[in-house]
Amino acid sequence: MKNIVILISGTGSNMAAIVRAAERERWPERLGARVAAVISNRPDAEGLRTASKAGIATSVVDHKAYAGREAFDAALRAAIDAHEPTLVVLAGFMRILTPAFVGHYTGRIVNIHPSLLPAFPGLHTHQRAIDAGCQVAGVTVHLVTAELDHGPILAQAAVPVLDGDTADTLAARALAHEHVIYPRAVASLLKNI
Ligand code: GRF
Repeated sequence: MKNIVILISGTGSNMAAIVRAAERERWPERLGARVAAVISNRPDAEGLRTASKAGIATSVVDHKAYAGREAFDAALRAAIDAHEPTLVVLAGFMRILTPAFVGHYTGRIVNIHPSLLPAFPGLHTHQRAIDAGCQVAGVTVHLVTAELDHGPILAQAAVPVLDGDTADTLAARALAHEHVIYPRAVASLLKNI
């Protein structure tokens, strides 16, 4: 069985979309894959409860308990590798990872970013798109590499920026597309690794 480990920091709606797709599309039978665990760096992440209710193993590696990035990444890596993952999925995971950590999972760690990369890596993407006068914004699934928000693109969806949009209204429109393209990209990757 190919184990998927999903990392979250908050709501976990992308994680939940992947869990729903795995059930609906019967990934264990059809892809030989399952969501094995959900790990959060924040003990209060709402997504932990969602995952538990779905019967998925959860754990917390609290970044505040570690002196530095290397120590945190080492603990996180141990927690992930305990589940022998084929694929690591970052889903609203709000920590910058060290190159050594990313290198350990080369080709099998993915992220979703709320912009049409390579435009707007980093934070506050929707506000930056509005401020730049973009007429189109969007979301990107990409392989994770050492450079933040820069890995090879696996899937994208574009959404219009409408008159009167705020960062919140644009984010909500984009998030609905994240929930469609992320499970699809994960499923297609699972067929090839
Ligand atoms: C998503 O917009 C994702 O692209 C971004 O953070 C948000 C996480 O949402 N990195 P959720 O936790 O999956 O609901």
